[in-house]
Amino acid sequence: MNLVVIGAQWGDEGKGKIVDYLAGESDAVVRFSGGANAGHTIVAGGERFALHLIPSGILYKDKVVILGSCMVIDPKALFEEIAMLESKGVSVSGRVFISDRAHIVLPQYIKTDKEQDAKRKLPIGTTGRGIGITFSKKSERSGVRIADLDWNEMLEELTEEDRVFLLSYKNRLRDMAVNITSYLSRKKNARILFEGAQGALLDLDCGTYPYVSSGISSAAGASAGGGLGPRALDKVLGVFKAYSTRVGAGPFPTEFKENQESEDSLCSYIRETGREYGVTTGRPRRCGYLDLVALRHACRANSIDSLVMTHLDVYDELPEIKACVSYDINGETTEDFPASIPALNAAQANLKTFPGWKKDISGASSFENLPREAKDYIKFIEEYCETPVGVISIGPDRKQTFLREKIWS
Ligand code: IMP
Repeated sequence: MNLVVIGAQWGDEGKGKIVDYLAGESDAVVRFSGGANAGHTIVAGGERFALHLIPSGILYKDKVVILGSCMVIDPKALFEEIAMLESKGVSVSGRVFISDRAHIVLPQYIKTDKEQDAKRKLPIGTTGRGIGITFSKKSERSGVRIADLDWNEMLEELTEEDRVFLLSYKNRLRDMAVNITSYLSRKKNARILFEGAQGALLDLDCGTYPYVSSGISSAAGASAGGGLGPRALDKVLGVFKAYSTRVGAGPFPTEFKENQESEDSLCSYIRETGREYGVTTGRPRRCGYLDLVALRHACRANSIDSLVMTHLDVYDELPEIKACVSYDINGETTEDFPASIPALNAAQANLKTFPGWKKDISGASSFENLPREAKDYIKFIEEYCETPVGVISIGPDRKQTFLREKIWS
């Protein structure tokens, strides 16, 4: 079975924790997109791991992980991550493979990414990891893939600095290379977990362009990055937080307003309780109400079969909760998520209020155990999004997760 997990908002929804949880019952994990711009924090056995490139399945000692074809890989970041895992007792030898079609991030691209974003009239606020430049080199057909490491004529086109950099990693990268299409085609009866990066609203096509990442973070990326056709994908899970966050620039219709005292203090509460700081850049994340208009757009555009709700416990102390059910844009009300940036910037969120539960739910072990108010909030989300909430996470630990359906079937 091929199970896809994507972010259904602007990234940082808690995918890493969910993939780590589901990986226990998988045979292999394929990370299909993005690069070292992503950041996952996983707490396992009381130890906290911050991962950027390597799928979180690596923490199970018998799992194989593969970096897919639509990833862009910075070898320096990759081998630093491997060294970090080994220093914490995680053996990676023979368990990490890279699609030979994945592109490589070169030092020159990282410099250009930072310079280019700083020069833009409307900066994107990139992570500065060279992601957009590597993807534009790929589209321009002057990128370097893992499969190109022995293609001397092509390497001669690079700057001296980039060539020396690449050659220093060549043997180690070549040892990890795999033909992902042929590898996965031979695993038809296995349980393969396809892990996305960022989120649907940061996808180049489905998201808030140009305030997006440059990769394919929608469910379609699992097919492209896994080297398989779309009919090979059996199920799509979309992870979302009980509220919304965004890092970097771009429209965010439900963002808490700093000039309104009540929303400003709600923002600080959510940011501190939910630990809303970037794993990759340390930037404080922008926070806001759950945006159901945006979430339903993500469900529809990605054929999400089931939603995975995370951070529900962050609401434990609040007397009431609000979620956006429509936008007013220049005098018109809509429940559809627009493509236009001026329209999104003008959108006024219409909020529905739900009573809070004012109880600690971090020890709940099933949906039935949740307070009635929390169950009602979840049921409303399911109806609005026309999608069931099949998994609920109520804290950072693996154990603080419960299923409402069989995932691997
Ligand atoms: P880039 O991917 O570094 O080019 O950044 C483009 C935009 O995507 C910026 O707004 C980043 O903050 C955002 N972004 C990239 N990766 C992530 C992520 O993993 N989580 C949240 N935002 C991200």
